[in-house]
Amino acid sequence: MKKNNFNSDDHLYLQVADGLEKMIAGEVLRIGDKLPSVRMLSDEYGISMGTAFQAYYHLEGRGLIESRPKSGYYVRFNHQRFPQLPDQVKPEAISHEVSVKDMITSIYGDIAAKDTINFAIGAPDASLLPTAKINKSVIHALRNTKDGCTGYEQTQGNLELRQQIAKLSFNWGGKVKPDEVIVTSGSLEAVMMCLKAVTNHGDTVAVECPTYFGIYQSIESLGLKVVEIPADAVNGLDLDALEKAIKKYPVKACVVVPNFNNPLGTCMSDERKKKLVDIITKNNISLIEDDIYGELYFGKMRPKTCKYFDTKGMVMHCSSLSKSLAPGYRIGWTIPGKYFEQVKQVKRIQNICSPSLTQAAMAHYLKNGRYEYHLKNLRKALHTQSLRYMQGIIQYFPADTKISRPAGGLTFWIELNSKVDSFKLRTEAMKHKISIVPGKIFSASIDYTNYIRLSFGKPWSDDADYGLMMLGKLIKKML
Ligand SMILES: Cc1ncc(COP(=O)(O)O)c(C=O)c1O
Repeated sequence: MKKNNFNSDDHLYLQVADGLEKMIAGEVLRIGDKLPSVRMLSDEYGISMGTAFQAYYHLEGRGLIESRPKSGYYVRFNHQRFPQLPDQVKPEAISHEVSVKDMITSIYGDIAAKDTINFAIGAPDASLLPTAKINKSVIHALRNTKDGCTGYEQTQGNLELRQQIAKLSFNWGGKVKPDEVIVTSGSLEAVMMCLKAVTNHGDTVAVECPTYFGIYQSIESLGLKVVEIPADAVNGLDLDALEKAIKKYPVKACVVVPNFNNPLGTCMSDERKKKLVDIITKNNISLIEDDIYGELYFGKMRPKTCKYFDTKGMVMHCSSLSKSLAPGYRIGWTIPGKYFEQVKQVKRIQNICSPSLTQAAMAHYLKNGRYEYHLKNLRKALHTQSLRYMQGIIQYFPADTKISRPAGGLTFWIELNSKVDSFKLRTEAMKHKISIVPGKIFSASIDYTNYIRLSFGKPWSDDADYGLMMLGKLIKKML
């Protein structure tokens, strides 16, 4: 047996798995190649059989290899076959009114239609959520409050829940106190409240483009103007373009989804997050950070937040449990820094408080439900799904299809041939009971006509395989 010379800080199995992954990425190991037996791997690397098994389980969990009964492990995925990244389309840096309501309403009606193969909804499938444990927490909450949660909660939110939310901030290096947190009904309400707190009708807000259509809707409903800042599938928000826009327009606030932005799935590097915070601080602009996907990372570490780099209270951090635990419970929060009082007042005026029962239940779940364990499984499942869906797209879509490489989150951003109108594609797909989201609704000014967002929140299945195959056929028909 060889003596291993691995770095003892990391888990041994991860180091072995990383080495194998690099060999797969570099096509030293190709699709269909048989991997060494567990015994051979153990001898070769000087590790125990248990560690060798763990390395293979890890790679299997990531969809890179598969075990075949009585035969061993085989490579099932090859990074080299990844298609190109979608092009970055640069919006004109002009401040303009927003008009996205009708367009979004027209597609939102059937986004969650029950009997469809749903690639549209950006949430994890219910089968990936710890429903039984959550139910227990609801019963506990009902039985253990004097009034069965019939009364109003504090405007700021249930104290135990705020304690748990403050604890969650440790994951990104935050040192948040429960007093700094305001509970909201989801992340979108948090973003909306923050916008209300720091802007007035007619003000200009900078947003990354493309971005989640709910953010445009919030901006439109408040009568704000928007200046769209390009974001790409590798680095996220273009900071130079942001600085130029700030010089040109009186930007009051900037809204960004730095971790696994919807639809691109990109994660801004720490360096860029820090630079972003420096830019907004220097220019006295509030940064509304929507970190709703931060826990859904596919790498080894939870990415930091912009809030982590904030020393002056300029970052209004927003997030929720919608993408990781229970979208229907409508539990979100904001940590709005120096704008705390303004945001709390908005919450009071808007809806007094969030519902008492779901807050108490989520507080109990976060304290007792093994949330970290659930998240670990959820991340693994989503990462595997993303790789499997990617394989399906490569197999069925035309060769010129360009796909983002989400490093976390739930969605692919896909650029199709310029002849494809994704609104028409959606109409055709709905005839086959397949739903997708056309790219157009992820910007207020760019058409993104030939782009779609495709969610991989559902576990891979024959239906998903059929859905992608049929979408591929419909796209090819449009060429
Ligand atoms: C970036 C972003 N923010 C907010 C939301 C809505 O979150 P919530 O359900 O917590 O209000 C979504 C949902 O897709 C999203 O993608």
